[in-house]
Amino acid sequence: MESVHIPVLQNEVAKFLDPKPNNDYVDCTIGEGGHAQAILEKILPNGKLLGIDLTEELIEALKLKFKDFKQNLVLVCDNFSNLKEIAEKHGFRNVSGVLFDLGLSSWHLEKSGKGFSFMREEPLDMRYEGGVSAEEIVNGCSEEEIARILKEFGEERFARRIAKTIVEKRRVKPIKTTFQLVDVVRSAVPLWYQKRRIHFATKTFQALRIAVNGELENLKETLPQAVDILKTGGKIVVISFHSLEDRIVKNFFRENSKNGKLKILTKKPVVPTIEEVRVNPRARSAKLRVAVKI
Ligand SMILES: C[S@@+](CC[C@H](N)C(=O)[O-])C[C@H]1O[C@@H](n2cnc3c(N)ncnc32)[C@H](O)[C@@H]1O
Repeated sequence: MESVHIPVLQNEVAKFLDPKPNNDYVDCTIGEGGHAQAILEKILPNGKLLGIDLTEELIEALKLKFKDFKQNLVLVCDNFSNLKEIAEKHGFRNVSGVLFDLGLSSWHLEKSGKGFSFMREEPLDMRYEGGVSAEEIVNGCSEEEIARILKEFGEERFARRIAKTIVEKRRVKPIKTTFQLVDVVRSAVPLWYQKRRIHFATKTFQALRIAVNGELENLKETLPQAVDILKTGGKIVVISFHSLEDRIVKNFFRENSKNGKLKILTKKPVVPTIEEVRVNPRARSAKLRVAVKI
């Protein structure tokens, strides 16, 4: 694991989560362990951290990275949509904080070889683990279904044109790699769209990744479970990276503040400073929301 994932909004997470010695926490997206490291250092000597990630390779690498924290860290390779069951199995009840740092890690883009990045020529896979691959969606779904995915999960304004072109091109030759897909998108969108600062394939790739991994459903499923495992006064901290995720978190917090389960601590989402975005461009779309269990 040579890639280094720079944790986003690390100071802000530390401030809100404010981990205390001997308290228990859950990091639902432990990834490369950036946020986890900061939590572990604060909860010694007897606090415990449950670290969950869907990506087996990352969990394996963390076993080595955190070998000195064996007494304090439980690592589980699973989907955070099973949060309550995982927490119960490992004795995490009434925890002081639950953290979500959504999406994918630098490792996925740079090392996984699974076609998450439009900058590298790789097979179109995009799975964190199991399920239907991006290649299967692109070559197997109907034009309408592909257009729906691009519109709904990518908010791609040229969804219909891209879907139509995908279906035309795949009749000639199956679309199996990232660069093939980039070429297809290029031939579907107008020139001005190709010249914008944001790469013209960004939304197509985001949409496929969200669809492949059921990311929005997983998030909707896990949020109520996170509240259930928190103790009164415990915090739920969520970093999202696009508007669809942020909307789910915002609405969930609102509903639960109306019904008296949560108090929202971030009226507006916290965003990174210009300085952080300069050092870590991946942070540019990050939004942090925090609520406390009443
Ligand atoms: C942005 S990265 C987390 C980075 C981490 N906080 C760090 O500081 O290194 C998001 C991680 O969430 C994981 N992930 C995505 N969806 C998941 C899910 N449904 N269940 C568990 N892990 C998931 C990905 O494998 C990825 O490693």
